[in-house]
Amino acid sequence: MADNDSRAGARYANEQILSYVGRVHASHDAALAQAFAVPEGIPQIMVGPSEGRLLYLLMKLAGATKIVEVGTLVGYSAIHMARALPAGGKLWSIEYAAKHAEVARTNIAAAGLSDKVTVVVGAGRDVLPTLDGNGPFDAVFIDADKDNYDHYGRWAIEHLRPGGLVIGDNAYFFGKLMEDSPGGRAMRGFHELVAAACESVCVPTPDGLVVGIKK
Ligand code: SAH
Ligand code: DHB
Ligand code: MG
Repeated sequence: MADNDSRAGARYANEQILSYVGRVHASHDAALAQAFAVPEGIPQIMVGPSEGRLLYLLMKLAGATKIVEVGTLVGYSAIHMARALPAGGKLWSIEYAAKHAEVARTNIAAAGLSDKVTVVVGAGRDVLPTLDGNGPFDAVFIDADKDNYDHYGRWAIEHLRPGGLVIGDNAYFFGKLMEDSPGGRAMRGFHELVAAACESVCVPTPDGLVVGIKK
């Protein structure tokens, strides 16, 4: 047997199975259903319900009180993560598109989480340094522009407490991870710097989810 996950293996999941396990473990309540829907003109590119649920569970396991997210969209993953925060806990979520941020704030308010979540409008590279003073953080979830994943990953490692989590969505880069392109290079850089600074894994979700615990 090959010493990696590329060995030929059965893929047992099918639509019916995925629908069943999603229903059993990761059903939406009203607030999640609202944030999973997107208004006309905004792409539906949030994490899936089971990944959202995993983010929530990971934040609980980490005892997270201070979380940073890069890439809010309309607040779906933010609501999952913020629900794991204790009273007084904070999530700063960075979003480049003002329209997305506006819808996110509405959804976060409907979830009753406005006191815990601050949506900051701007580019991740510009906003992250403004958050430095709130650190060290317990978790950083990266899910924005893929060309900057190495930059975001480096910032995360520098600003996480030991034992803190760095998580990155789209770790297969839509199937283009091995390409010689800015995005491919940045995403491979992200994998390698997380693997060096953390105990880590790339969970085989549809597009890969890196999870690292900072050493
Ligand atoms: N994490 C969200 C999905 C994020 S989709 C969820 O799972 O619910 C990616 C988001 O990143 C989009 O809303 C996009 O506008 C935003 N984005 C793109 N480039 C960005 C940048 N440079 N800085 C911050 N956000 C960015
Ligand atoms: C896109 C971005 C994402 O973060 C994602 O999970 C899926 C798609 C996109 O930009 O198309
Ligand atoms: Mg994503």
